Amino acid sequence: MPQSNPDCIRAPLSALQWLVEAGADEAVGDEPVNRFNHASVRSGPELLEAGASPLPLRPSAARPKNLPAQPVTPAASDGDQIGRAMEIAAACGTLAELKAALEAFEGCPLKKHATRTVFADGVPDRRILFIGEAPGREEDIAGLPFVGRAGKLLDRMLASIGLDRKSNVYITNILNWRPPSNRDPTPEEAAVCLPFLRRHIELAAPRIIVLLGAIASRHVMGRSEGIMRLRGSWLEYFVCGRMVPVMPTLHPAYLLRRPLEKRLAWRDLQAISVKIQALALLEQSAESG
Ligand code: URA
Repeated sequence: MPQSNPDCIRAPLSALQWLVEAGADEAVGDEPVNRFNHASVRSGPELLEAGASPLPLRPSAARPKNLPAQPVTPAASDGDQIGRAMEIAAACGTLAELKAALEAFEGCPLKKHATRTVFADGVPDRRILFIGEAPGREEDIAGLPFVGRAGKLLDRMLASIGLDRKSNVYITNILNWRPPSNRDPTPEEAAVCLPFLRRHIELAAPRIIVLLGAIASRHVMGRSEGIMRLRGSWLEYFVCGRMVPVMPTLHPAYLLRRPLEKRLAWRDLQAISVKIQALALLEQSAESG
């Protein structure tokens, strides 16, 4: 394709513009595909005249739910990257160091699709830690967890028991980078992020952990049961020899799809609130006597 011919530059540009106007907001493949190399593909404007789409991409609004997972290929073996993640995470002595280490880490293939590394939000000082699944589109842009629709619902859930991320809650995810098309993380992607999450929990030293949804429960607690079985009962997680009570509950994104289940989430929130009060009383009596 000769660079000097302005038509050769305009055709791909106008095809791209067409896609953006149609609502396509992300690339869903791992590698770019130059479809203009295919003899059968005509240029964007020609196709527009013929009333057809120049590229076989759908606008995001029309994208079907639950697209099949598109596994991404790591550059080195998964085992190497997990080992490297463990070494790097263990060497971090503060949350700021851990955040910087994650931002510099290139061992998770999700990172090459993501706009930002999403570390955490809220107040980390030994409070209540909420762990979700993975950043979505809004989180990927903002670099903060739970800022989209599910995040707004999470904020309302927190407020219902007197919590908020500015005063007494800390929030992170299993994955620090958005999976393409918001698909579920592969076991390899979760495994490479987990050493960072485990160190994150040690450094934040929460009094209570709340797991949002089945994926967080599976990866943090190694439990394979569905969330409907797990939710509502306390589990135990050991942080540096100290037992931390863990409550698995329903993910706010699930509650947006199934609003009737909010009554179950409400029960879990009540149990969390009672536990917070009980731990506060215990701490007060330990301090005074
Ligand atoms: N869902 C999650 O699990 N985490 C986010 O940060 C946003 C949506």
